[in-house]
Amino acid sequence: MSKTPRKIIIDTDPGQDDAAALFLALGSPIELDLLGVTTVAGNVPLPLTSKNARIVCEWANAADTKVFAGCDTPMKRPLVTAEHVHGKTGLDGPDLLPDPKMALQDQHAVDFIIDTLRREPAGTVTLCTLGPLTNIGTAFQNAPDIIERVQEIVMMGGAYFEVGNITPAAEFNIYVDPEAADIVFKSGIRIVMMPLDVTHKALTTKPRIQAMRDLGTPAGIAMAEMLDFFERFDIEKYGSEGGPLHDPCTIAYLLKPDLFQGRLVNVMIETQSDLTLGMTVADYWGVTDRAPNAMFMTEIDADAFFTLLLERLARL
Ligand code: RIB
Ligand code: CA
Repeated sequence: MSKTPRKIIIDTDPGQDDAAALFLALGSPIELDLLGVTTVAGNVPLPLTSKNARIVCEWANAADTKVFAGCDTPMKRPLVTAEHVHGKTGLDGPDLLPDPKMALQDQHAVDFIIDTLRREPAGTVTLCTLGPLTNIGTAFQNAPDIIERVQEIVMMGGAYFEVGNITPAAEFNIYVDPEAADIVFKSGIRIVMMPLDVTHKALTTKPRIQAMRDLGTPAGIAMAEMLDFFERFDIEKYGSEGGPLHDPCTIAYLLKPDLFQGRLVNVMIETQSDLTLGMTVADYWGVTDRAPNAMFMTEIDADAFFTLLLERLARL
């Protein structure tokens, strides 16, 4: 008997790796019912993340996707962006980025998230977060009644043994809006975390990127060109053989959870210290009596992950 597609909202700050996650989701309509894409300020400011999300949907021949613009600044802090990683457009790589033809939805992303969770049967909508958690934290603050209606949150964010990528202690998505992350991690919702500890094992390589280019499709070629640009930063910084494809780990988990292994632990967010702001403090060895609140993923079958990504990219 065919399972009904899982209802998801993707909250994102595209970003080349966000684009890979969107392609993976858009190439998986049997398994995933993408109710909407909500954009947030993060890698680049909101106008660009909102433009980039639509560019990616059009590359995927999915111009009917509903894209909602969300918050343009974190809940309590000024915005920190990452043009040094993603380029000034946020999707650097392709020679020329098209102007999207599809329009943004009129509704604010936060209101879309609230209305959708109130409308859909409780426990049937999963939030997949690929950027700072500002939209989610704001929605939970504005409408606490929706918290218990969320099925699960599958997020790219955080780090523990792998330590930080934007500061010595913090991963970018959490660092940009630690107050929003604090709301989410204290919500009681089941969280599946894809921290740097696992995403740094999902590295692009030249053959993996070439296989995408060889698809010869707009999405395949654009993905390869974006990753050629995106990987340079991490290769230089870490001396790795490629760049980590952070965000599609969330979608791959929804499609094939057995690709991942992790541990259910307590994670709390540092919101006070300037030195460790945005750190995800994981009680990995159970040295406190804090209740576990997150499945902290640390292992991935990288070959199977890239095979899945290529297979779904080929469908677009
Ligand atoms: O730290 C990596 C995360 O920050 C990824 O989601 C990347 O797209 C940026 O948003
Ligand atoms: Ca992202």
